[in-house]
Amino acid sequence: MRISVIGCGYLGAVHAASMAQLGHDVIGIDVDRDRVSTLQQAKAPFYEPGFDELLSTTLATGRLHFSTDVADATGAVVHFVCVGTPQKRGEYAADLRYVESAVEALLGVLEPGHLVAGKSTVPVGTAARLAELVGGKVPGAMLAWNPEFLREGFAVQDTLHPDRLVYGLPAGADGERARALLDDVYAPIVAAGTPQVVTDHATAEMVKTAANSFLATKISFINAMAELCEATGADVKQLADAIGHDDRIGRKFLNAGLGFGGGCLPKDIRAFMARAGELGADQALTFLREVDNINMRRRIRMVELAREVCDGSLLGKRVAVLGAAFKPDSDDIRDSPALNVAAQLQLQGAVVRVTDPAAVANSRRSWPQLDYAGTPEEAADRADAVLVLTEWRQYRELDPVAFGEVVAQKRVLDGRNALDRDTWVAAGWSYRALGRRAG
Ligand code: UGA
Repeated sequence: MRISVIGCGYLGAVHAASMAQLGHDVIGIDVDRDRVSTLQQAKAPFYEPGFDELLSTTLATGRLHFSTDVADATGAVVHFVCVGTPQKRGEYAADLRYVESAVEALLGVLEPGHLVAGKSTVPVGTAARLAELVGGKVPGAMLAWNPEFLREGFAVQDTLHPDRLVYGLPAGADGERARALLDDVYAPIVAAGTPQVVTDHATAEMVKTAANSFLATKISFINAMAELCEATGADVKQLADAIGHDDRIGRKFLNAGLGFGGGCLPKDIRAFMARAGELGADQALTFLREVDNINMRRRIRMVELAREVCDGSLLGKRVAVLGAAFKPDSDDIRDSPALNVAAQLQLQGAVVRVTDPAAVANSRRSWPQLDYAGTPEEAADRADAVLVLTEWRQYRELDPVAFGEVVAQKRVLDGRNALDRDTWVAAGWSYRALGRRAG
């Protein structure tokens, strides 16, 4: 099938290559010339395990192309909208201008029987409005909402082997036609028995925001427990293990630490609250404000803990920050808790050196005032404290004995509860973590 993908960021670039991998002819469209030419040269514009290989193999088949001109989407039967919906400046609501302009641009190439399939995360009600626009301008063209649940770091795997397919369809015969087209696009995934939820536009839009809100709530729940553990001397990691054994609760997303960041969870819970307010249902989501608050408090607590460990003052103290990306296996630094803490420490007078296996270049562009190092050893040279703020494998596997040679003071703060406390303590380090006793 001929497919277009509008927007070649994280979501769109991976989606385009994955659809080519499924056997379709795909044109990826983006307004950013540099991005398009990078992708066309089989180079990934971001760090994502497995994406480079997927891009090279699918480009080599001749089935995948990239362009800046939406006219190149002419002839595609299904058009996926994968553009960003960032938080508006100065307010909680999502900025829909990219989604709107993508759909408007598509009006020029759409034909009757074609399908626009939205994948971007949008406030509930957006799809119905856009469906009217599409059907009004190109009678017989349809719009579906088909949210995406991929995680950065697992984007290729999640796209090719999703745990569910959600189709938000128009009513009636158009809905049947749209469903048949999506089933054709995802044929191997459907054949693999992937659960499908076939529903209306509003439910499909809400599935996405509800899922991300639930994940954020789960993280903030365990981080609230960490605050209590800090007050009582209990251990949040053991607590999470113990409650996680109950499969109604589950252990996943119960890792206490510095909390959530990135381009999705923080802005999605805020946009959801803003939309609930517009719908007169704001009370239903006031708890998300607390989820957001708990999350932000963890960053403040981390800075306090660093000060405590540095004998009550950060002035002139050398602090190594291991990790800048918002999570491991990513170079994404959007709303990164690690960089946020690093910047706070520097503002309070510490001499901060940040390192990360993939995100230093991005960090340097956005936070040029911070000092960067290529390796953990370089960052920790003569350090008074080492903070592990993103749980990259390289940091989890550090040898505390050898690493102890480079620092001035063997003090480690485990911001992600990712290190083996006993090994570090045995190597002579003082160990501190959020929600756990000092070691
Ligand atoms: C999230 C969702 O998990 C995806 O399903 C969704 O498709 C995506 O947003 C999106 O909306 O596009 P992602 O932002 O890649 O994916 O990252 P997550 O793996 O969800 O992690 C988010 C943050 O939570 C990270 O900062 C991570 O360090 C933190 N986290 C995660 C915790 O603090 N504790 C945990 O137990 C798990």
